[in-house]
Parts: sequence; structure tokens; C-alpha cells
Amino acid sequence: MATRDLHDHPFDDGTITKLEIFENYAKEWLPTFVMSYPDKELWIFDFFAGTGRDINGIAGSPIRLLQQVKAQSGNIFNKKCKIHMCLNEFEKEKYNLLQKCCDEFVKNDSELARLSDTYLFLHYRNCDFAELFPKTLTTISANPSLVLLDQNGMKFLADKYLLDLEGLSQTDFLYFLSSSYFIRFGETEAFQTNLKIDINRIKENPYKYVHKSILEQLKCKLPNNSKLKLYPFTIKKGANIYGIIFGAKHPRAVDKFLKTAWDKNNINGEANFDIDDDLKKVQLSLFDGKLPTKIERFQNELQEKLIQGILRTNKEVYDYTLECGHLPTHSSDKIKQMKKEGIIDYNEKSPLINYEQVYKKNRIVIYKIVKK
Ligand SMILES: C[S@@+](CC[C@H](N)C(=O)[O-])C[C@H]1O[C@@H](n2cnc3c(N)ncnc32)[C@H](O)[C@@H]1O
Repeated sequence: MATRDLHDHPFDDGTITKLEIFENYAKEWLPTFVMSYPDKELWIFDFFAGTGRDINGIAGSPIRLLQQVKAQSGNIFNKKCKIHMCLNEFEKEKYNLLQKCCDEFVKNDSELARLSDTYLFLHYRNCDFAELFPKTLTTISANPSLVLLDQNGMKFLADKYLLDLEGLSQTDFLYFLSSSYFIRFGETEAFQTNLKIDINRIKENPYKYVHKSILEQLKCKLPNNSKLKLYPFTIKKGANIYGIIFGAKHPRAVDKFLKTAWDKNNINGEANFDIDDDLKKVQLSLFDGKLPTKIERFQNELQEKLIQGILRTNKEVYDYTLECGHLPTHSSDKIKQMKKEGIIDYNEKSPLINYEQVYKKNRIVIYKIVKK
């Protein structure tokens, strides 16, 4: 299957979106772990690291990760936290460029140079991911880890890798895939032996939803009692659909990813375009009555669930909000509005729907329905 080489051209807008999501998530991930795991070792794996930069010098994933390590250097020194970065690239020529690019970046940056070899360790690998991944599983599972799987195409989204990742408890991962390849090649033996996905089910939905549809099928492959949560971010580039799949077990990680995704697109938090035509719905309201946007639909369903007593506390609402791929502020805004309208009441100044209150402080707020 032919794939276009990312490093022969300047990064396009879709690639930049992907890289920004990787980087912005690392920006959230690093301080969380540096601050909560003093004296510990944190691992970041960039299994398909490329050359470090594109042909115009725009930073690729490894340099972006290093920039985020630099941004945390003060905390890393204070907390004596060791950051290990495993940077892997299969093609020898690219691997050489990668190593030179990252070594120079560290050497020429005073903060990173100071961290280097005491608190920052770069582990370069020139391996086939299929061989390297099983060898690294012990390290990944023994330490808080962030795993980037920025493959070309979707060859490495195999059932076995997904299930390996499912088995890890303190690992967050970002998987990139060229989802529209599935429409073209999904029925071939190469695909079907590695990843069984029902293409007819994918084709039942409009093409723009291909990435989301793949993710729905991947969720069905997880064991019934799995705590792993998967979220999509669809990236449209010309006629093709790509996407990121984020996976993590911890609610704090999910919260941080959703913040990253909604920061990228505050209309839907799941695509680099208006995937559900929400902007049209806002315009339509003037003439044809209001069609709810994604946020409004979620808020209406939340209100229904509160009124029916299906959700009763800030914890239940917080968990439900993450499950639905929304931001805690979407729920808070609705609940505050319901209080104003005299539908709901609670003994706090605010609904306290956030990770800090729910999971760190264990502060539980009970919402009482006053008027149905
Ligand atoms: C989409 S690019 C990654 C881009 C990189 N994240 C960046 O920001 O520049 C995928 C990379 O994976 C490399 N690659 C291809 N097959 C591989 C394999 N089997 N194992 C590891 N790397 C591989 C390619 O040479 C390519 O550089």
C-alpha cells in the first residue's frame, strides 16, 4: 500500500493540527505527572518519530515534545523527576537526521542541556515498531507513560496492539490513522488479518464519519470490564479523512485530552472542521426553528437525566460528561442555568463539576430537583 512520505514535503495544515494535539496533550500530561510523582521516572515513547523537523524546519513530534520538557524544566529540577524519551524511526537516513536534530536542539538550549543526562534521557531506536513495541511493554507498564503512535496509513492499528495497550494501567496513548484508507483497502487480506473491521457498517454512515465509525468498532473489541476510554479527533485533509484516537484509563487523563480537543475546536471538540454542521444549525434557527448544536443536545440530555434522577451528584455528572466527550463546563453551565430557573438546587456556590473536587477532594454535591 503506497503512502506519501511526510518528510518529503512541508507539513500541511492537517499534519500541523495533529502535531499540535500531540504537543498540547504533552503540555497537559507532563506537569500533572512531574508534580504528582516526585523522584519518579516518566517515559514518553514516540514510536514513529520521523526526522525531528520538516524540510522547512517546522518542528515535528520529537522537537515539540522536547519543547514541552523545556517548559517544565523548573518543576523537573524541583521534583527531581527523570524524563525518559524513546525516539524511534525505522528508516536509517531519517533516524540519523532525527538523532542529529534532537541532540543539537538539546545541546543548544540551556535549560535542556542542564537537564540532559541527569533528568532528561534520550533513547534513540532505529527499529521496526512491530519488533520494538513488545520489547518496551515492560517499561511502559512499569512507569507512567505517554505513547505516540504516529504511523503512516493504518498498518499498525492491529487488534494485538490495541489489546496490549488496553492491558496497561498508567499509559495514555495517541494513535494516528489514515481512516479513509479503510474504505479503499479495508477488505484486503492484509487488513483483515490484523484488524477485523466491518466495512459495510462503516459505509452506513456518511464518509466524514469514517474515523468515528472505526473507533466505535474498536471500542467493541475491548474486554467487557475494560476501563480504557477511547476518544476520536477527526482530521480532514482535502478529500481524505485521518484522525487521532486517544486512549487512557484515568479520568484526569480523559479530562485533559478533552480540554485539548475542545481547545482545538470549540464547536464540537472532535474534528478540525464542523463535522455535524453545527454552524448551519445556528443559522437555521432564524428561519426554521432551532436545531440543537452538539453542546445543546448534550445539555438537554443532561437536564433530562437529572430530572429523571438518573444523575444525582456532581460525581455522576462529571463521569457522564467525560463519557459523552464533553467538557465539565458544558455541564456546569447547564446546571447553573437550571438553578436560576428554579428546577434544581444544591448547597454550594457552584455545581463543583471538575476533577479536583470530585476525585481529589472527594467533595460530593447532591442536586435536588425542585421543579419538574
Ligand atoms: C507519519 S510519520 C511520523 C512523523 C513524525 N511524528 C513527525 O512529527 O515528523 C511516520 C514515520 O514512521 C516511519 N516508519 C514507517 N514504518 C515504520 C516502522 N515499521 N517502524 C517505525 N517507524 C516506521 C516513517 O519512516 C515515518 O518517518
